[in-house]
Amino acid sequence: MNVLVTRKLPSSVLDRLRAVANVDLYAGDAAIPPDELRARVADKHALVCLLTDTIDRDVIDAAPSLKVIANVAVGYNNIDVAHAHARGVIVTNTPDVLTESVADFTWALILAITRRLSEGERLLRRGEWKGWARDFMLGTELTGKQLGRVGLGRIARAVAARAPAFGMRVAYTSRRDTPGDGGPRSQVVLPHAESMSLDRLLNTSDVVSLHVPLTPDTRHLIDKRTLARMKRSAYLINTARGPVVDEAALAWALQQHLLAGAALDVYENEPAIHPDLLGLENVLLVPHLASGTTETRTAMADLAVDNVMAVLGGRAPLTPVS
Ligand code: GLV
Repeated sequence: MNVLVTRKLPSSVLDRLRAVANVDLYAGDAAIPPDELRARVADKHALVCLLTDTIDRDVIDAAPSLKVIANVAVGYNNIDVAHAHARGVIVTNTPDVLTESVADFTWALILAITRRLSEGERLLRRGEWKGWARDFMLGTELTGKQLGRVGLGRIARAVAARAPAFGMRVAYTSRRDTPGDGGPRSQVVLPHAESMSLDRLLNTSDVVSLHVPLTPDTRHLIDKRTLARMKRSAYLINTARGPVVDEAALAWALQQHLLAGAALDVYENEPAIHPDLLGLENVLLVPHLASGTTETRTAMADLAVDNVMAVLGGRAPLTPVS
């Protein structure tokens, strides 16, 4: 069996795959160019890809023997899943193994933006700190405030589970009326959370954290209209997918002080950042790091390879995308 792996994975993970298949590894540091991807996938039975690879109709059609596309990510908006399924190709992702890491990181962003960590560090490195002063660079307290989580999935719930440690109450909104998407790590003890419409959540929350997948429905869910619903003292956190937020609208809203600040891990056109955001002090910008611990990234690669090995071995995939 032939497997294309589009980016270097930990050697322990690659070795497991090499023991059962011929592995064609794209060893470049950036994403594999689309024409090379189409050429190299042509004789493959499995494809291990990353969120930076666009697996569209052309890629899928270029690989007549393909059985499985294993995305090393929980999000799979980079894959034309409907076309893969129509062609009988299984698509898998890596849920669960990154939940805690992303939830921790979400709280790192919440704490950093509300306490002005990166703004303070920038000032200090510019040599502009004049010494301690009682009213210097004051932030916002979390205790007694409301965390509004948009989404009901595993990550949203793991973020909510941490809220009592910071004295925050939780509100949530979701278009689905089922209580989330389950999974082994979903058995966390959740604090009481009030369900409300998106408008009311935006209108009443002090921190709004986005945890929805990118779909046609959620693209620009946060735009000029919804931003205008937020409290002027509130913060927006995005660790989901960049296009869930209209970046130009967010930059405008931050310039107008329609909200107090935003912390972003993901962007509309990664790795490009909207130029208006770069000049603002009330936005914290980090380079898509939320799942980025050694442990989690290795577990994600392991799970993707487990999915490939299951499908090529004639067994059911562990974490198929439905
Ligand atoms: C990261 O963004 C992922 O979807 O795993």
